[in-house]
Amino acid sequence: MRVLMIGDIVGKAGRRAVKECLPSLKGDLGLDFVIANGENAAGGKGITKAIAKELFSFGVDMLTMGNHVWNQKEIFAYLPKEPRIIRPANYPPGTPGNGYNIYGVNDLKIAVINLAGRVYMPEVDCPFRKVDELIKEIEHRADIILVDFHAEATSEKVAMGWHLDGRVTAVVGTHTHVQTADERILPEGTAYITDLGMSGPRNSVIGVKTDVILRKFKTGLPQKFEVANTDYQFNAVVISIDETTGKAVEIQRIFNLE
Ligand SMILES: [Fe+2]
Ligand SMILES: [Fe+2]
Repeated sequence: MRVLMIGDIVGKAGRRAVKECLPSLKGDLGLDFVIANGENAAGGKGITKAIAKELFSFGVDMLTMGNHVWNQKEIFAYLPKEPRIIRPANYPPGTPGNGYNIYGVNDLKIAVINLAGRVYMPEVDCPFRKVDELIKEIEHRADIILVDFHAEATSEKVAMGWHLDGRVTAVVGTHTHVQTADERILPEGTAYITDLGMSGPRNSVIGVKTDVILRKFKTGLPQKFEVANTDYQFNAVVISIDETTGKAVEIQRIFNLE
């Protein structure tokens, strides 16, 4: 079983990256399931129904989110009706949508959990305790558990990898939009990477127009952020999974350029 996990899709360039890269990767790598982080898919901020539909039509099977999940107003009504999109599970009880979902793939059940970090991020409940709770709830219903930990600090993400080693199939980080080169299989069989990176405009500051961000840093004055639309980069990992044990056997980084 092979699963692709795509880093934060940012704006038009990111959607073009998915549209152009995904079909050939599906064929070449024999992918069974495709997960993408969609928190920046709509002009850098959140996601809309139309954009989610577009990404599904390109071959994405489900979308995880992050701190930008609420940026588009329509998401409040849409999220509870769309099982293919999840938002971080450690948001307060009663928040719209689900923090995990279970998908039938071939003859297996794949659970995907979305979590948000707490270091240099908006305040949320403890992701470590929340994931323990969820694993208890899910483990007898799922053959494979994949976790997208949407967090800023590398230390918090590395810690989550160790916290879940041997208990889930993969822990991948999202949110920083910069791919890390530390992909590995942890000792108990969990695939890990600190950040998947970004599928979005390559000539930008993590997705935003370069001149805007330079002005912000040089003057300290507030700026209106505008998503860049340049040549793209496509960032992801492909994880190979032993179907009998549910453990990861290989994790490989993908960094494609337009
Ligand atoms: Fe992001
Ligand atoms: Fe984020």
